[in-house]
Amino acid sequence: MIDLNFKYKELIEQLRSEISEEPYLAIVLGSGLGDFVKNLKLIKSFSTSSLPGYPPSTIQSHEGKIHFAESAGKKLLIFQGRIHFYEGYLLSQCILPVFISYKLGCRKILLTNAAGGINPMFEPGDLMLASSFNGISVKKELTDLIGLASEKGKNNFYNFPSSSFNEIIKHTSLEEKINLWEGIYWYTKGPSYETPAEIMMMRKFGGDAIGMSTVHEAVFAGYLGMEVSSISCITNYAAGISGRKLDHQEVTETANRVKDKFERLVKGIISIV
Ligand code: HPA
Repeated sequence: MIDLNFKYKELIEQLRSEISEEPYLAIVLGSGLGDFVKNLKLIKSFSTSSLPGYPPSTIQSHEGKIHFAESAGKKLLIFQGRIHFYEGYLLSQCILPVFISYKLGCRKILLTNAAGGINPMFEPGDLMLASSFNGISVKKELTDLIGLASEKGKNNFYNFPSSSFNEIIKHTSLEEKINLWEGIYWYTKGPSYETPAEIMMMRKFGGDAIGMSTVHEAVFAGYLGMEVSSISCITNYAAGISGRKLDHQEVTETANRVKDKFERLVKGIISIV
């Protein structure tokens, strides 16, 4: 069993020494959504490659940066890019942004991601709040992951997503007049996109959006007793829904197209959360 406190001791100490005030809210920015940081007052930024033990980012649209930032008087911890299982990392590495957020004092975390739309009502460019997650394909690893937390007595799982945080997000979308679907986020390990047959199965089992991240992060955050919510940017129709071939360029292009709406929503959330 890996002791995360031991493994990432130096990394956490280095980050702690850089801040004078604990951040309140952590935000993980998914594929193509990294430009959000341009809207914030950045206090300090780090390349994740400068942090001891931080797994290097291998994906083009993932910057691999951590920012201490501020917006609406709230201290924020922003992860520009995340760590994916399909990059060859262990889940105990993929949850590092959540672990860092917790150790630095955040008790709320907003996970964002790019996802394919399974629900036929969804169109590329839509936003979806996760009402629940399906990570059945990683159940064994998730269970092992919980065993890795190495801190006893924490909120035993699963309080995720947080219903109070989700209510705040829904309220903000109404205030900002932004259409926000609610639905089930389904996880696959990737790195290849799904087959139409897999998507058809997920649809029959109630999946609304499909992605390759977030679920293990949400489970871990819930386990640590953090309030966690997830917003997906629907960047494409999932395989077989439209007959179009999927590619990563469509994912980043759609995320780029809707960034104003996404940024307005997240800034609104920060101001009232
Ligand atoms: N499938 C899996 N992950 C994704 C997709 C998809 O269609 N779009 C963006 N991330």
